[in-house]
Amino acid sequence: MAQEPRPLVAGNWKMNGLTASRSELEAIIAGAATLPDTVDLMVCPPATLIASFAEAAAGSRIVIGAQDCHAAVSGAFTGDLSAEMLKDVGAVAVIVGHSERRALHGETDAMVREKAMAARRAGLTAILCVGETRDERDAGATIARIERQLDGSLPDRLDGLVIAYEPVWAIGSGLTPTPKDVGDVHGMIRNYLISKDKAAGSGTRILYGGSVKPQNAKELMSVPHVNGALVGGASLKADDFLAIAAAYA
Ligand code: 13P
Repeated sequence: MAQEPRPLVAGNWKMNGLTASRSELEAIIAGAATLPDTVDLMVCPPATLIASFAEAAAGSRIVIGAQDCHAAVSGAFTGDLSAEMLKDVGAVAVIVGHSERRALHGETDAMVREKAMAARRAGLTAILCVGETRDERDAGATIARIERQLDGSLPDRLDGLVIAYEPVWAIGSGLTPTPKDVGDVHGMIRNYLISKDKAAGSGTRILYGGSVKPQNAKELMSVPHVNGALVGGASLKADDFLAIAAAYA
């Protein structure tokens, strides 16, 4: 097996966090300084906190990401934020195609691809999410579903890209796929990426997301082709987030 990329543990805070949450970030920054330098760490707060979090995290091991972007640079898109704006206030990455945006905001694969391309245009890493529903898994359609999402939403180039495999039914449910099931999907994604671009495809990080907790992190993070985690609920507490990152210590 070729050398796997350096792992990344990223926290997706979703619509949680007020200015007072800066103390939680400071606890993450302080704790991260004591972890071995074997893993990259990112926090993706709501957009309202990106600027202050980026300022607080400057010079630390933590980098700051955003949770979504618009595909255009600027224009008449009330309420939206461009990748350039996110970069301007200190984000280095942006999540695109999270299942909550696909389901609740009607985002299609084509829209997700445009967002991923916008991220690269702005100089941000795109963390592109894919994942099957419970019904799709029960029907044995998981691999086909992920393949279709990759066909439709991968940008034209793989540099500056991270993939996050997040089974929709595992998000916020406390349920996780078996290590074998995670390995099957991650292996398929790795092969898919290599088939597009051998060098970039072997170096693209593939994160697992969906009910990652301190208790299951070690097992999930040891699965072949799992190069880190995209953590929701457990990333809101510094101790839990750091315990997950410590799976790589
Ligand atoms: P949970 O870790 O809360 O299941 O959320 C996962 C997720 O959606 C991260 O993007």
